[in-house]
Amino acid sequence: MSRSDVSPTFNRPSVEQAELVVLDYGSQYSLLIARRIRELGVYCELMPATADVSEIAARKPRGIVLSGGPHSVYDDGAAGLPEGLLDLGIPVLGICYGAQLLAHSLGGKVASAPSREFGRAEVLVEGESPLLNGVESRSVAWMSHTDHIVEVPPGFEVFARSGDGLVAVIGDGAMFWGVQFHPEVAHTAFGRDLLRNFALDLCGCAGDWSATSFIENTVEWLRTRIGDRRVICALSGGVDSGVAAALVSRAVGDQLTCVFVDNGLLRLGEAEQCMDVFARHLHMRVVKVDATDKFLGALEGVVDPEEKRRRIGRSFMEVFEEVAPTLGDADFFAQGTTYPDVIESAGDSKRHSSAAAKIKTHHNVGGLPDTMRLELLDPLSFLFKDEVREVGRSLGLPEEIVDRHPFPGPGLAVRMTGAVTRERLERLRRADHIFISELRAAGLYKHTAQALAVLTSERTVGVLGDARTYEDVLALRAVDTEDWMTADWSRFSHDFLATVSNRIVNEVPGISRVVYDITSKPPATVEWE
Ligand code: XMP
Repeated sequence: MSRSDVSPTFNRPSVEQAELVVLDYGSQYSLLIARRIRELGVYCELMPATADVSEIAARKPRGIVLSGGPHSVYDDGAAGLPEGLLDLGIPVLGICYGAQLLAHSLGGKVASAPSREFGRAEVLVEGESPLLNGVESRSVAWMSHTDHIVEVPPGFEVFARSGDGLVAVIGDGAMFWGVQFHPEVAHTAFGRDLLRNFALDLCGCAGDWSATSFIENTVEWLRTRIGDRRVICALSGGVDSGVAAALVSRAVGDQLTCVFVDNGLLRLGEAEQCMDVFARHLHMRVVKVDATDKFLGALEGVVDPEEKRRRIGRSFMEVFEEVAPTLGDADFFAQGTTYPDVIESAGDSKRHSSAAAKIKTHHNVGGLPDTMRLELLDPLSFLFKDEVREVGRSLGLPEEIVDRHPFPGPGLAVRMTGAVTRERLERLRRADHIFISELRAAGLYKHTAQALAVLTSERTVGVLGDARTYEDVLALRAVDTEDWMTADWSRFSHDFLATVSNRIVNEVPGISRVVYDITSKPPATVEWE
């Protein structure tokens, strides 16, 4: 599924010092490594493996992590170590491919096993090492590799082996370390300890990075940057734009004007709630534009999902053009782009230099009219979703906003296959509300990453009393995921699903059948359109 093509140049608010830098060799777990390190209170950033050593040094890191990757060190074109990296005088931890690369570069030997080792494996610790401090002598780790280290570089030792004797942890005892498994994956029992030993003990990171310190620095930065000029921010009702607005508001108060466009594609009660929270409780200046007629007019008869997105994007732009003159002379436009958006939108691992990055999330507001020459502010572009939530909480946003599941910019329009009509929207809204309310009532809302209802364009036969019906099929979808790039469907109990299904077919006219989507991503996406 592709998204609407609105991608103005992305501007990062500032280049912070990163205590650790994770070099990305293309592993699906690279972002996860960065997250796990941040969970230790250590601010870290992901950089492409092709980064120049001067770019890396500019972040003044105390240590480097080399991620895993799909290649063999012997492959043509496999990324090597940035030249001069090992001369920076800071500790380096290689993970999987990173470990093989480190060993290979320092004179060790890597070989291919006849088959891939994948899944849980036993790790047996040999001797003492600061990296494995506190790790039990027999433990479980998550492996995923074909190549492995068969000879350690001169001056290195083996500090652990897998159950079948393969080298699992190597190091020179001080600066350079390599692990054959994935410490960032939850299945590695001692992964967090290992990363903590590396970040805090071996690299000397302070471990004091937190939502509070982030807010202090960012508010300070925003004040200096904005001065006495004016900012606008488009609220979508979601957590990212809400937190971005609240941060800017904390920094410059009334110099911020928020625009909340009710496009008629929101969930039940969402527009009211958004106004209630931001305008009434947080006392922010919010201009509400009711543009339902305009959006629904533009969507009339459109069934193609990409065309829906395009029309919604265009309508947003037109609404902005109309409302702009009422907003005063703004110089900045603040938005809720988050760190994974920056990484993901910059494409593959070879290319995500911050300067070249493009925005993906901007489709939440459909882009800005060219006539509004506004500078972008992306105060959250260093944060993961759960960090954004933490910042939101610290800024006093209510739980209903902070914990809200992601909701796509094009809203319910892409949660119904087929045409978008008021009647169908109403039906979907009611069904979605039942699903979400039941999730909350059962204490499950926070345990699933995203839950949604999809109104399909299928109708099937049913019975109501003695009569035959021919009505809509509604699909429920809920996924467990940390990064939204891969996701698994949420395993709710049959009783829970039965309750939701019964309520929907009994309470929402026009729906006579409910199905639950049991497809993972990939191959399916989270949304249906
Ligand atoms: P998919 O469907 O691509 O969704 O697996 C991954 C995440 O992205 C959200 N999503 C969107 N968000 N505009 C958005 O702002 C969109 O057009 C859009 N499409 C998908 C989706 O809800 C999920 O969180």
